[in-house]
Amino acid sequence: MDSKNLNVVRHPLIQNKLTYLREKQTDNQDFRLILEELTTLMVYEITRNYPLKEKAIETPLEKTTSKTLATKIALVPILRAGVGMLEGVLNLLPKARVGHIGLYRNEETLKPVEYYKKLPQPLEEFQIIVVDPMLATGGTARAGVELVKEEGGQNVQFLCLVAAPEGIENFSEKHPNVPIYTAAVDERLDEKGYIHPGLGDAGDRLFGT
Ligand code: URA
Repeated sequence: MDSKNLNVVRHPLIQNKLTYLREKQTDNQDFRLILEELTTLMVYEITRNYPLKEKAIETPLEKTTSKTLATKIALVPILRAGVGMLEGVLNLLPKARVGHIGLYRNEETLKPVEYYKKLPQPLEEFQIIVVDPMLATGGTARAGVELVKEEGGQNVQFLCLVAAPEGIENFSEKHPNVPIYTAAVDERLDEKGYIHPGLGDAGDRLFGT
């Protein structure tokens, strides 16, 4: 898969956790926990180049300057499965503001339908991380990032855990400058829009539906 905006994070701890996530015997409780841990590890990678600024501080010994993150961060989970990644991001970025985008996939057309949107403002001031565990057809991610851009979002990253080649292509065609971060690029999509080998329906496995 050759897409300039694609970043596959191959860290051994990430690959190890992804295997547990994929296994069908992993129950809802473990699935939620592992998905959160995996997201936290991914966040470590995707923040690698975030800008820093100097802050004047005082240690117990003397005055000095030290570095802090220079940008405000907004996290935007795409409902519903994206919510499963929320805590995983907040573990490392506890001051991030959280917006929500509600998009569901019409089971027949496989097209995204918007039903909810609430985003922090002014969005242009934030580094934005849009999260959804599965980049399948790419329709939902594509529409979600489009909504963020319409509201003024400029610096956007898309974070998922498993991506299909078809989804990467569809997303990148519309948002070539938005980097995609994933732990895996799987083989294919089936006619129902599921990723193979994948991990099944992430929302159902998270929430036990
Ligand atoms: N959404 C999921 O949860 N799983 C897939 O395989 C595809 C889309």
